[in-house]
Amino acid sequence: MGFTNQQGMFIEQTLLIQKGVSNVPLLIRQTDPIDSKMSHPNAKVVEHKFGLGVVATGPIKKDELIASFDGEIYCGETNDDFPEEILNYPITFGPDRARNSKSIANKLNHACSPNCGIHGDFDIVAMRDIKEGEELCWDYDMSEDHDWSMECGCGSPECRKLIHGFRHLSHAKKAEYKGYISNWIVKAHGLES
Ligand SMILES: C[S@@+](CC[C@H](N)C(=O)[O-])C[C@H]1O[C@@H](n2cnc3c(N)ncnc32)[C@H](O)[C@@H]1O
Ligand SMILES: [Zn+2]
Repeated sequence: MGFTNQQGMFIEQTLLIQKGVSNVPLLIRQTDPIDSKMSHPNAKVVEHKFGLGVVATGPIKKDELIASFDGEIYCGETNDDFPEEILNYPITFGPDRARNSKSIANKLNHACSPNCGIHGDFDIVAMRDIKEGEELCWDYDMSEDHDWSMECGCGSPECRKLIHGFRHLSHAKKAEYKGYISNWIVKAHGLES
């Protein structure tokens, strides 16, 4: 079994690496490296109190692409569906779908006062002009709305301490993030894009 990518190359599909508790194949699609988008030249992975993080090594303009989730696609509905080594990295793009990255996209940390957001389902973009030296962060609740949570240590005065889904965001935050909320959340909540 497999699929054909945009370049017409046939990619073999790995249907099963491990079953989650929902008893569905966890890894449902591998992707071709040549489908990757380039990460922003001024975004660099650095050591961080949370392991790794990403900082700006030069100016980045509002709405410029930082990096894309362009990797394997997984199926799972709860934390328990994902092995520890996968759980913390992919972006959610449906009630039971998540996608990892081959680029630096999965190295950006969460912040409750972020400078980055999501375009479409997979692209991390700058939400405002960013200066050299700033850490690049997005709010994971821009794409999360299933049975998942993370304790936050971002240190922002606005820190919510517990990150547990878009539905828990205040009306003010939802309004602030307009244009930077993951496509599947916009559709699921009947929001204007
Ligand atoms: C997508 S990874 C980000 C890169 C990660 N720091 C690394 O070293 O590869 C997400 C993980 O980073 C950590 N993390 C990111 N933002 C955090 C935050 N605001 N507070 C606490 N931990 C955070 C958590 O372990 C989370 O599961
Ligand atoms: Zn926080």
